[in-house]
Amino acid sequence: MEILRSKSALRAYIERNKEMGKHIGFAPTMGALHEGHLALYKAARQENDLVVSSIFVNPTQFNNAHDLEFYPRTLEADLALLEQSKAVDAVYIPKVSDLYPEGLVSKSYEFDGLENKMEGEFRPGHFNGVATVVETLLTQVRPNRAYFGEKDFQQLRIIQKLVAQKQLPIQIVPVPILREKSGLAMSSRNERLSSKDRKAAKLIHETLIKVDQWFRVISIKEINERVTQVFEKAPEFKLEYFSIADEETLEPTDFFYMDHTYRAFIAVHLGGVRLIDTMHLE
Ligand code: PAF
Repeated sequence: MEILRSKSALRAYIERNKEMGKHIGFAPTMGALHEGHLALYKAARQENDLVVSSIFVNPTQFNNAHDLEFYPRTLEADLALLEQSKAVDAVYIPKVSDLYPEGLVSKSYEFDGLENKMEGEFRPGHFNGVATVVETLLTQVRPNRAYFGEKDFQQLRIIQKLVAQKQLPIQIVPVPILREKSGLAMSSRNERLSSKDRKAAKLIHETLIKVDQWFRVISIKEINERVTQVFEKAPEFKLEYFSIADEETLEPTDFFYMDHTYRAFIAVHLGGVRLIDTMHLE
């Protein structure tokens, strides 16, 4: 595995491999790697000659200084995992100046309103930060395909829109959520949960399963009320939002059309950690 610690090292690696006609699959990360990331690499391995990842905790996408400070940083363990799993051919570990030569500021984007709902509403500036770093990484790595987890479904939609708007010749490939045994969606943030909270967190997935059962049986208004009640009865949680939304537009809906597909989205706080999850509704 090649460890590329600068933009120039990355450029040389990419140029060399592009000249040889290699197809590159890319999965950007913020480190604290877990099986969910390995699933991205596995998907990339199946469809490309080379798999490249990046590790960079991107300050501009954190709207909360506490969250940025406590975001897990486990570079040595990440590199050991990548070496041992042989999951990637190269990992790019840029410095801030490689991605932000003019300082740590986000560009400003519009994604037809996708950026203002849910995560956008509760984490102002978050998607400008994500889009800024992802556009830069995609431009530097120049992959044929890039892989993003469906747990961050709104992020995935925004990146698809970004690539279309900028006409980048890159296929964005969604990768299904990987879950812990309890059903909790895998996330680097899970590391910050106490073992008690990590057990309790299964309530999030259990609730989404119920929502899927209730969907098209009772009204969406009633589903919203029931979800609110579930979390009122579990005071260790603070429900930030729950929304059933159109899968294309992410527009919250009060009723459904037969020819549209829908998805439930949830964000909660538990033991000082913010967790999100989502589920396609049948
Ligand atoms: O999903 C993530 O880990 C991050 O938002 C990403 C895409 C690596 C950008 O920093």
